Amino acid sequence: MKRLIAIVVAITFVFGVASISIAASALDKCNKCHKDEKSLEKVVAAKKIETTDAFIKAVKASPKAKLHEKFTDNDYKAVAKELKLK
Ligand code: HEC
Repeated sequence: MKRLIAIVVAITFVFGVASISIAASALDKCNKCHKDEKSLEKVVAAKKIETTDAFIKAVKASPKAKLHEKFTDNDYKAVAKELKLK
């Protein structure tokens, strides 16, 4: 019985850590460049971006779109979710 509890606690712990690192990863990819004044929170507020679609269009329409080539729409969707866009 003790062993079973230990296994359950271990599994819960591993999943907990894994979900924290997944949750932190989407914005972290962008924050390398988007810090302080250029943080995505500020970009979204300044441009009044409210939806995921508008957010993705803003990246693609940016003169710096080339810097974002390695990202996919799924990355943007994950980030948009963290920024609480619709
Ligand atoms: C290699 C550096 C770099 C990375 C990594 C990066 N960006 Fe950018 N991004 C830029 C630069 C530089 C600009 C242009 C900023 C400006 O015009 O002031 C920009 C512009 C943007 C814009 C448009 C802002 C505007 O004013 O129109 C959006 C939206 C954006 N990035 C989203 C993202 C997202 C989402 C990620 C992560 C998935 C990301 N970026 C990762 C460098 C980067």
